[in-house]
Amino acid sequence: MQLWKGRFSKEIDPKTNDFNSSIKFDSRMYKEDIDGSIAHATMLCTQGIISSDDLGLIVEGLNNIKTEIEAGTLLIDPNAEDIHTFVEGELTSRIGAAGKRLHTARSRNDQVALDIRLYLRLECDDVLNQLTELIDVLCKKAEQYAGAVMPGYTHLQRAQPITFGHHLMAYAEMLLRDKERIVDAENRMNYCPLGSCALAGTTYNTDREMTAEALGFNGPMQNSLDGVSDRDFCMELASALSILMVHLSRFSEEIVLWCSWEFKFIELDDAFSTGSSIMPQKKNPDITELIRGKSGRVFGDLITLLTMMKGLPLAYNKDMQEDKEAIFDAFDTVKMCLTAFIPMLDTMTALTENMRKAAAGGFINATDCADYLVGKGLPFRDAYKATGELVALCIEKGLTLETLPLSEYKGICEIFDEGVYEAINLDKCVNDRTSLGGPAPQNVLTQVERVKVLNKG
Ligand code: ARG
Repeated sequence: MQLWKGRFSKEIDPKTNDFNSSIKFDSRMYKEDIDGSIAHATMLCTQGIISSDDLGLIVEGLNNIKTEIEAGTLLIDPNAEDIHTFVEGELTSRIGAAGKRLHTARSRNDQVALDIRLYLRLECDDVLNQLTELIDVLCKKAEQYAGAVMPGYTHLQRAQPITFGHHLMAYAEMLLRDKERIVDAENRMNYCPLGSCALAGTTYNTDREMTAEALGFNGPMQNSLDGVSDRDFCMELASALSILMVHLSRFSEEIVLWCSWEFKFIELDDAFSTGSSIMPQKKNPDITELIRGKSGRVFGDLITLLTMMKGLPLAYNKDMQEDKEAIFDAFDTVKMCLTAFIPMLDTMTALTENMRKAAAGGFINATDCADYLVGKGLPFRDAYKATGELVALCIEKGLTLETLPLSEYKGICEIFDEGVYEAINLDKCVNDRTSLGGPAPQNVLTQVERVKVLNKG
């Protein structure tokens, strides 16, 4: 059923109708569409544009439609042009003339712009709640592993000793920023386009403040052309979600590495791992690989939205119907990834002995050895050079800084004494790294306390 009958002498071609219709992906906004219509009708009545009898019929009719869709007793017509058309058509078939008055001083252009905003507000809440949960899990794990020494890397080469708690809390910081970005975009989105009508407002005496307030917005949008053609919020949210997926993907990549026999830093719970159909020994971190892979979908959704919007003249263009599949897919994907990732992380065990063993190789305490010489009065550059020579010597002799005899130390630099072994002790190296933001166990615990507070806000 089309709403735009009068001008046309023929029914729409069925294949063209399939192509044109958005019902397959916009019917998920039925509730928002109905809530928006109730607020609009209530305003029309308050302003004396429709009667209170009509309002009564409209509100009752719309509520019945909502209840029946929810109960599964009213099926959404797959051939309808979109959810707005379906709801209005269904209402009119039930209550007649009153239903036909609902669309006074409104267009599907402001209606759809409203519905997406209402729908995305709830999607934002879902993702924010999941992020809060994930950050809580990170804090819990970081507390547990605050003192677990592991190698920190640059260029994926062992660099300096850190703690596993410190490593985990780096992700907590990223995820806090992700939350902030979503809240920020949501605040900017939270202005009401309803009443912009097709593009040019209306001659009826509408009250846009009233509908904006009834629907929980900060206020009405201030320009009717912008009201119907703004999709900044879709692009902003897709970009916030893309950055979030970058973080999940980097984390996932590390988990893939950590699960390998080459690292063996962690063990995933069997419930969150998969096997191979041929190799009986395999235990694969599929969840993390899928998340790494799915990040591409979300980036794709962002590019879809940017490209779709970039050449559009004001105001509404049908191109914009494409916004929904992209932004819905971005939210669906992120929510699915988080749903799997959170319990996987929660049940993961760190193999702290292996981490420590890895930290004991690779001359990870070389900087501390140089710092020890600095403490004895040598300029840092000279200390750096002497330590470099020591590392070369160790490699030549198949030793480590811990096992190299003091005589060899002294051969390279006179200043060395027994104290060097204590200076390069891994626990000491980590415990002394108490500079703000550093990996010392006490720093990790302080950071956890701070993040817990921010995560609640
Ligand atoms: N299904 C349309 C969309 O999602 C609703 C708006 C239709 N407006 C129009 N002028 N054809 O964008």
